[in-house]
Amino acid sequence: MTSTGTRGFTVWLTGLSGAGKTTIGHAVAVELERRGLHVELLDGDVVRTHLSKGLGFSHEDRDTNIERIGWVASRLTRHGAAVVVAAISPYDATRKRVRALVEEEGPFVEVWVKATVEECVRRDVKGLYAKALAGEITQFTGVDDPYENPDDAEVVADTVALTPAESVGLVLAELERAGLAPAPASTR
Ligand code: ADX
Repeated sequence: MTSTGTRGFTVWLTGLSGAGKTTIGHAVAVELERRGLHVELLDGDVVRTHLSKGLGFSHEDRDTNIERIGWVASRLTRHGAAVVVAAISPYDATRKRVRALVEEEGPFVEVWVKATVEECVRRDVKGLYAKALAGEITQFTGVDDPYENPDDAEVVADTVALTPAESVGLVLAELERAGLAPAPASTR
């Protein structure tokens, strides 16, 4: 048996570009580190500049990207890390495959960072929705490429209705409930 906070696990944030995965994932990672866990954050945008450099956004390339991230997450989970993944991961079957892979080594907590396409278009932090809607980029998730809604997420964080802090709170509460993260020092 291991005590709370010493067991590796993966928190997998899936959702549209601009839904809030990076914001929530970063805040969760910072808080888990503050609580003494060994944390690694794997963000799709960053992974695509290293491990998945050169991959595009076809179904096949997205699957390759997600399976690489899943493989790294499983290795880190095996060695006791708290792994936070933030990647669109639009295909349900692929998410289920990486869940199975990670679960060979430790718990997998899926978080659907949920926002409507309309809201993501309105936010358009990176200006990519405008380009996709103008036809300047194609195969853009939510515009002319699919996003398959999760049916097995442990947490659904609706970022249209919730503040970022509230979404982060939902994720941390689930990790505490599952015995994966210690409660904050002030409540212990
Ligand atoms: S995934 O589909 O393979 O999971 P990933 O999360 O790694 O995607 O990368 C998504 C990021 O790539 C987006 O946040 C966005 O900044 C950028 N991007 C560029 N082109 C596309 C596209 N066609 N569809 C989605 N995201 C794109």
